[in-house]
Amino acid sequence: MWTLKKMNTTLIVNPKGGSGKTTVAINLASYFAATRAATTIMDYDPQGSSLNWLALRAPQAPPIRGANATRQKGTRLRSMAMYVPPETEQLIIDAPAACCGVALQEMLERAKCIVIPLVPSAIDIHATGRFIKEVLLTAKMRSRNVPVAIVANKVRRSMPAYRPLEHFLESLELELTARLIDSDVYVKAAETGLGLFEMDLALSVAERKQFMPLAEWVEGNSGSALGARRAEHQLVRSLDEPGRVVELTALRQQRLVK
Ligand SMILES: Nc1ncnc2c1ncn2[C@@H]1O[C@H](COP(=O)(O)OP(=O)(O)O)[C@@H](O)[C@H]1O
Ligand SMILES: [Mg+2]
Repeated sequence: MWTLKKMNTTLIVNPKGGSGKTTVAINLASYFAATRAATTIMDYDPQGSSLNWLALRAPQAPPIRGANATRQKGTRLRSMAMYVPPETEQLIIDAPAACCGVALQEMLERAKCIVIPLVPSAIDIHATGRFIKEVLLTAKMRSRNVPVAIVANKVRRSMPAYRPLEHFLESLELELTARLIDSDVYVKAAETGLGLFEMDLALSVAERKQFMPLAEWVEGNSGSALGARRAEHQLVRSLDEPGRVVELTALRQQRLVK
């Protein structure tokens, strides 16, 4: 089931807790669900934050399937709840903090692209740098050529640019794909089972605009033909939903506003 060509698997990973893995995972999932892509979140974290968020979703919200990849305590077994529907087009894996060993290898092998949310602070940069060097920049991973996106998260309005982060990215020859501001909108989304792209547009314009480069990056890695077809299909389908037309059109226009 994992090797189906149309399934794009995005791993959200960073050994540092609180860096925004779950936040990025649920908002990416909600973005894809809003574009009517068949979307599944796979939660490897025993805390089950993504699956808890999923349980809060309203029944009429665009569907997102959940897969529980945690091992049962004291065993190597996993439950039937790990099942990923084969029709899934976008599979988002939410990794736990401090993941290592077999579980990490399994997630890395499945990933077609990797997203690393990173809080711009000296402590977080240090921890993430070690992980990137020891895990992602190994000869084996390099030979697989899996694209990696770095997302600065919880960026403070008073400090939009952070020189140590820029140095860090330059030294590893990595680029910043998106910059997400520290905002209550993410906290609200997590509490209510919603994603940025399902919230009141007026309240989430800045956050959507900042998130779009990441969504587009993942979409681009899914194969541009699938992404383009999906966008076209969505705009046609939403003609009978005036609110959604306005919302999605605004969303796409925001990409052009830098
Ligand atoms: N950009 C952001 N702005 C404000 N709060 C955020 C942002 N990103 C994450 N948070 C909050 O920070 C906490 C940790 O984020 P989370 O996504 O759970 O991190 P992780 O999964 O890496 O441990 C959560 O309470 C989340 O709502
Ligand atoms: Mg988490």
